[in-house]
Amino acid sequence: MGYVIAITGKGGTGKTTLAALIVRLLRERKAGSLLAVDADPNSNLAEVLGVKSSQTIGAILDDISAHPENIPYGMPKDRFIEYQVQSAIVENDGFDLLTMGRPEGPGCYCYVNNVLRNTMDGLIKDYDYIVIDNEAGLEHLSRRTTRRADTLLVVSDATVVGLKAAARIKQLAEELKIQTKNELLVINAYDKNLDEKKMKDIKLKLIGIVPYDKEIEKAALDGGSVMGLSHNAVSLAALRKLGEKLW
Ligand SMILES: Nc1ncnc2c1ncn2[C@@H]1O[C@H](COP(=O)(O)OP(=O)(O)OP(=O)(O)O)[C@@H](O)[C@H]1O
Ligand SMILES: [Mg+2]
Repeated sequence: MGYVIAITGKGGTGKTTLAALIVRLLRERKAGSLLAVDADPNSNLAEVLGVKSSQTIGAILDDISAHPENIPYGMPKDRFIEYQVQSAIVENDGFDLLTMGRPEGPGCYCYVNNVLRNTMDGLIKDYDYIVIDNEAGLEHLSRRTTRRADTLLVVSDATVVGLKAAARIKQLAEELKIQTKNELLVINAYDKNLDEKKMKDIKLKLIGIVPYDKEIEKAALDGGSVMGLSHNAVSLAALRKLGEKLW
């Protein structure tokens, strides 16, 4: 059973960036087979990782519902979907990538969500590590496409409003009975020490702070990826220190 790190948080807090940095660190550690999952329908993890994305699961499902005649005679639909999903996984140097996307066509979302869940459950068994970049907010949690995460990593800014949002995410994960072993908080893009008083009512374990990194800013502006950051980039150095707490 693979070790699942699911990254979540409010919009724009740095989920995708941290997901990509964690992929880079796991690869650097040669920790085992590694799957990066872009579970945000407005996908951009591939770009931030500097790799090509392939067909999304959403597009595959659209295709199958538009052309059911493509399902080989005698093959159950679920089996066909599973096969197509396998072929949508892109292999890269040191990690694989799967992009979920979102089906555009009409159809039952319960069915789609079911497929996504089963896809994830199946893949978790095939890899040592799975890093999931989720969409902002709470919606994906309530759709329960993330049912199990060894580490639920909530990313936040250092504002009071941001920290309260992070606390709500943890609360919702509990209410939805999402199975997690660690529920951790990381403050991203912040260069000061955190006033501990702010953490009083936030029942998440703060593992640390990833500083604002000018190299990330430059990469974002130039369309570069986190793979191009220097080995000692401040964000990477900080995450490297936190690494052991994440997996
Ligand atoms: N530590 C950092 N230092 C500097 N810039 C950062 C840092 N972390 C993230 N950024 C920048 O902040 C912006 C938002 O980051 P990112 O896209 O990772 O957030 P997100 O939470 O995934 O957003 P969304 O909710 O839209 O998916 C990006 O331009 C990214 O390059
Ligand atoms: Mg993102």
